[in-house]
Amino acid sequence: MDQRRKARVSTRSSPRVRRSSVRLKACERHLERERRVLQARKLSAIAALAGGFAHDFNNMLAAINGFTELALDDIPADSPARENLTEVFAGVKKARHLVDQIHAIGSRNRRGFKTVSLSRLLEDRLSHLRTRFPSTVQLQTNVCSAVPTQNPDFPITANPDEIGLVIEHLVQNGFEALPASGGRITIELRYPGSGQIELSVKDTGSGIAPQVMEHLFEPFFTTRQKARGLGLAMCHGIVDKHRGSISVQSQLGHGTCVKICLPQEDAANNGSATK
Ligand SMILES: Nc1ncnc2c1ncn2[C@@H]1O[C@H](COP(=O)(O)OP(=O)(O)OP(=O)(O)O)[C@@H](O)[C@H]1O
Ligand SMILES: [Mg+2]
Repeated sequence: MDQRRKARVSTRSSPRVRRSSVRLKACERHLERERRVLQARKLSAIAALAGGFAHDFNNMLAAINGFTELALDDIPADSPARENLTEVFAGVKKARHLVDQIHAIGSRNRRGFKTVSLSRLLEDRLSHLRTRFPSTVQLQTNVCSAVPTQNPDFPITANPDEIGLVIEHLVQNGFEALPASGGRITIELRYPGSGQIELSVKDTGSGIAPQVMEHLFEPFFTTRQKARGLGLAMCHGIVDKHRGSISVQSQLGHGTCVKICLPQEDAANNGSATK
């Protein structure tokens, strides 16, 4: 076909091609929306299961602990059973730690909520985290509150222990994704508008494969050896309880950015932000 005919054919078919591509894009958007709705339903079912399980299991652990204490009171000091019962205590302690993590996935309890300065909480947690990592890991912070009307405290209503845990988990995940030669983790705080505060943790690590991405927030999902796979499930549960949202963007081989959006504390309370 000569060049002129080719050009004529392509111009003639282009409106149809354009219509198909518009339809295809609409279809893709619809599928993406459906995927998000299904994902949200799945995570909320998991959260309900985790919350109920943790509550009942904690009661059982309390009974095991209590009866072990009574048994220890009843047996003589030189009894060989004493050592075995001490092992029961150690087992209960480990089980409690695991149940606490599962509880965080499904708990909706807003106990310990108060006005918190997210910038100060971040500073505090990072000073601990810095000591954990080798010098090949750069830990950078970027607190963007250049506009004078924006509160540099980044006030939120939160349980500081829980939000502190989220920060630690995300930075730890970033660290674990870095190669042995090291890399950079950047933690940024900013006001994206609409009464929100955004905290992002970005690493220059391995990135996440699409097939892993789908399962990120599921409890006990892990690609790491000797890990439990509870970190992101817990972060999701905690952020959800704080009426926030969490999203992950990643490029395989280039790194990952996890963003958390939390509602900004009511303007009326801004002056009294404390950690
Ligand atoms: N920043 C990241 N870069 C690359 N992969 C990540 C990152 N964060 C999470 N992942 C992937 O998501 C999986 C689940 O993460 P999650 O924090 O829930 O569990 P974990 O880190 O494997 O175990 P745990 O947090 O219980 O020690 C990880 O195993 C890893 O494959
Ligand atoms: Mg983790």
